Parts: sequence; C-alpha cells; structure tokens
Amino acid sequence: MRILVAGGAGYIGSVLAPMLREHGYETDVVDLLWFGNHLPDAIPVISRDLFTLDVADLTGYDQVIFLAGLSNDPMAEYDPAMNFVQNGALPPYLAFQSQRAGVKRFIYASSCSIYGYTENKLYDENAPLFCAYPYGISKLAGERGVLQQQQDGFSTIALRQGTVNGHSPRMRFDLIVNTMFKTAMTEGRIVVNNPAIWRPLVDVRDTAGAFLCAVQADEHINGAFNIAYDNFTVGQVAELVKEAVEYHTGNSIQVETRAVTDCRNYKVDCTRAQEQIGFAPRHDVKATVASLFEQYESYGPLTSARYYNIEVFKQLKRTLPTAE
Ligand SMILES: NC(=O)c1ccc[n+]([C@@H]2O[C@H](COP(=O)([O-])OP(=O)(O)OC[C@H]3O[C@@H](n4cnc5c(N)ncnc54)[C@H](O)[C@@H]3O)[C@@H](O)[C@H]2O)c1
Repeated sequence: MRILVAGGAGYIGSVLAPMLREHGYETDVVDLLWFGNHLPDAIPVISRDLFTLDVADLTGYDQVIFLAGLSNDPMAEYDPAMNFVQNGALPPYLAFQSQRAGVKRFIYASSCSIYGYTENKLYDENAPLFCAYPYGISKLAGERGVLQQQQDGFSTIALRQGTVNGHSPRMRFDLIVNTMFKTAMTEGRIVVNNPAIWRPLVDVRDTAGAFLCAVQADEHINGAFNIAYDNFTVGQVAELVKEAVEYHTGNSIQVETRAVTDCRNYKVDCTRAQEQIGFAPRHDVKATVASLFEQYESYGPLTSARYYNIEVFKQLKRTLPTAE
C-alpha cells in the first residue's frame, strides 16, 4: 500500500512516517519543511506546498494522511488569516483532489481543541462542538470539510487528538508535558497557570499508533474518533511530571501555581476509537517523561528557538513573507 503523509516532516509525522514504513507501507512525505527534515533517508520527502498538489500528483496513493497546517494556538493567533486558509481550506482541498485521484481513504489530524470550554463533562464524538478561538474554529472547519466528502469508495476519518507529548526526532518543547519537563530540568520548577482545567493527553508514539489503526481499519469505517491516553487536570500533570523528573534526577522540583483563565477545558471519551479501530494507548505520563529524559543529552539547550513553533514561525514570516 502507498501512503502520502502531508505535513509528515513535523513533530507527529517524524514518528509516524518511520512507523508506517516499518509496517511495510510505501510512505512518501510532502512538506514545506518549516522545521527542517529529521526523517530517515529511506523516506522520500518532497518539499512542496500542498496547495500545489493536483490529481496527477496524488494518483497512485491508496491513502493520504493530513498532518499539515498551523499546529497550535500561538501560531493561529499570530496570523489568523493564514491559519484559516491552512487549517480550514487546505484539508478539504486535499481531500477533494485525493478522491478525484482514486485515493481510498483520507485521514485528518484533528484536535480535541474543537470541544472548547466543556464545563467538566466527558465528551464523546457526538457532543456539541463550540470553540471561540482561531485554532479551534479552523481545525473544526477542516474536519467538517474533510468528513463530509465521504462517499462509496472514499473513506474519511478524523482523529481528534488530545495534546501530544514525548520525544520526536523533530522535537517540540511547547506542548504541556514537554514544557513542564523543560522548566523542571532547566529551572527546577514547573509553572501551572490554571491547575483546575482538564486536558486529554497522548504520547506521540500512541498517537502515531492511532494513525496506523486508522490506516488498517475496515474500509467501511468513517468519521471522528477521540484519541487520548487519559484526561488530567493541569495540576495533576504537573505533579506527575514533578514526580517523574525527581525520580530520574534526584533533584527536588517546585510547582508554582498561578490563576490565569483559559478558554479551553475538555475531557474526552475514547471508547469509539478503542472499539472501532483498535486504538490501545500504552504510554502514561511517566513513560512520556522517561522518553524525554532518555534523549535529554541530545537536545542541547532546551530553550533554543527551534523547539518552539511560534518562534520558528515568526522567523519564517519575516524571511519568507510568502510562507503560505
Ligand atoms: N501536536 C499536538 O499536540 C497536536 C494535537 C492535536 C492536533 N494536532 C494536529 O496534528 C497535525 C500535526 O501536528 P504536529 O505537532 O506534527 O505539527 P508540526 O507543526 O510539527 O508539523 C506540521 C508540518 O506541516 C508542514 N506544513 C504546514 N503547512 C504546509 C503546507 N501548506 N504544505 C506543505 N507542508 C506544510 C510544516 O512544514 C510542518 O512540518 C497538525 O495538523 C495539528 O493541528 C497536533
């Protein structure tokens, strides 16, 4: 089977693309390489804007996985117009061209951010969706634009991922567990802006595993799936990271709590993904921190701008005004 991973040189793609290859899938990546290329040489990488792909480019692929766009709130808020184009318009455009090219399945990297502020209820995929911030609105627009194209012979799946954490060859330290690990290691403290709000978390190895499940799912499977290991309050995450870092280093870590409001608060139910596509996450927060600790020496300074999407993005926008 031939798979195209669109945006596959990013944080998730750099774990997923090699995993697909290990499972015997012929895997190509198309990516603008905003964060460089950290993929193994064996994976062909085409440096190209996905908006330029047409039917001829997509012909011959059995499945397309979409991991591109602006991947967090600060990027979306820095350039809302580009955010709505890349997250809202590009996924349906690529799904449209994929269907015309004879691709059998399109898998979209959605986000639990689309649940917005949920008053501490556990949400499954039938829950109402409302979010009032550019990243969430655009991810929901992208998801809807992809899912509604499902038809006989063309399956569409959206994986609504919780916040992804852990080690990837293309590393990010702007994700909750990774950020807490960074400040614990460099400053001996973890800063918690709002300890009461809920977040679903998933290790990057498990989210890559969820994409693999979606690739292998029965051809009649379609629709949205929540993807998380579990739900935690931010205060609980801080305590788990503190414990794990203290275990690995023997140093004492302080947790500092602040009272900052957050318009995102959501807990999700992943039963549908477990039952219908066989999603079985294995890595808890302790295992995620262990993976970061194992790679610690290889990171160099954890505060380097290259580990923060918004910093790289601002630089790109300055040097390449046509980055979109
Ligand atoms: N990381 C998370 O916690 C998380 C959680 C939920 C959903 N998601 C979604 O998963 C996807 C992947 O996330 P990530 O953390 O790997 O992101 P990332 O920012 O590390 O990677 C995105 C990649 O897409 C590429 N790209 C962007 N626009 C492009 C275009 N027009 N043409 C070609 N390449 C383009 C970039 O060069 C980059 O390599 C994103 O769509 C994101 O919204 C991520």
